[in-house]
Amino acid sequence: MDLKGRDFLTLKDYSPEEITYLLDLAAEYKKKKKEGILVDHFRGKNIVLIFEKTSTRTRSSFEVAAHDLGLGTTYLDPKSSQIGKKESIADTARVLGSMYEGIEYRGFGQEIVEELAKYAKVPVWNGLTNEYHPTQMLADLLTIREHFGTLKGLKLAYMGDARYNMGNSLMIACTKMGMHFAAGAPTKYFPNDELTALCREYAEVSGGSILLTEDPAEAAKDADIIYTDVWVSMGEPYEIWEERIRDLMPYQVNTALMGHAKKTAIFLHCLPAFHDLKTEIGREMGERFQLTELEVTDEVFEGNRSKVFEEAENRMHTIKAVIAATLL
Ligand code: CP
Ligand code: NVA
Repeated sequence: MDLKGRDFLTLKDYSPEEITYLLDLAAEYKKKKKEGILVDHFRGKNIVLIFEKTSTRTRSSFEVAAHDLGLGTTYLDPKSSQIGKKESIADTARVLGSMYEGIEYRGFGQEIVEELAKYAKVPVWNGLTNEYHPTQMLADLLTIREHFGTLKGLKLAYMGDARYNMGNSLMIACTKMGMHFAAGAPTKYFPNDELTALCREYAEVSGGSILLTEDPAEAAKDADIIYTDVWVSMGEPYEIWEERIRDLMPYQVNTALMGHAKKTAIFLHCLPAFHDLKTEIGREMGERFQLTELEVTDEVFEGNRSKVFEEAENRMHTIKAVIAATLL
């Protein structure tokens, strides 16, 4: 399998075989990391990490993975570079592409990361856009595969805002890999028709399926994995919180909802999560709307079916695989 020089912008661009290859490579890197075996075979090369939105996991994963691979890194934060304000994406791509062997981009529209990839002659990796979060998908698939030993035939139920990066990406990842994807959300939060139609084609080939329903119990019924994400994503206006809480509260992942899933079901969340009042926004929303938790209850989040921290660790191993597989 040769992925050298390839961009990693959305899983739409990757075949099930290529995704499996990246998961296998990540598992191999994970094993080596645990055994203390060095993999720093990219010494002398450098990558740049552009973050126009904040991050804990994605940034740390890129930095640790790059360090383990022997790569140097430069972090460009949301404020201090010229990107977008004084310099176009096309110019930025040509400058950075002349100094670095790879570029990570986290930011707003998917068209920005596509423009970067068009003008940079080195691999560009999507570290999250409004539309997609493909590196998160590899971590999720690896976590699911580690737990169940397989992906094919499993049902993943995504609860909440299914028309944004996580819902879109999970629908792509599941249908490519022969899984059954269900979204539980009000209709206006369903993934768009064009993407849904494309994923139905993937599902036809892989043996997977798609169910979009307003009924949370139907979405969660017999699921192997219950998944949720924050109700308001980075870059969305603060004022939207009230409407989101009203719209999405019936889809909160709580013990009753988990009861519709299989007894063996696990809970995943890309994180960060509002499962208590220990964050600024969690506290504020709690006070304003008399809530103690938002998209997931503390009981589920802290319960033994929750695999969210295994999932978070897998961000690093899978990002390492993407970098190593695509660097020239
Ligand atoms: N899941 C995820 O992308 O986390 P960060 O926003 O912390 O990178
Ligand atoms: N939907 C979330 C994902 C965070 C990892 C956001 O875009 O903020």
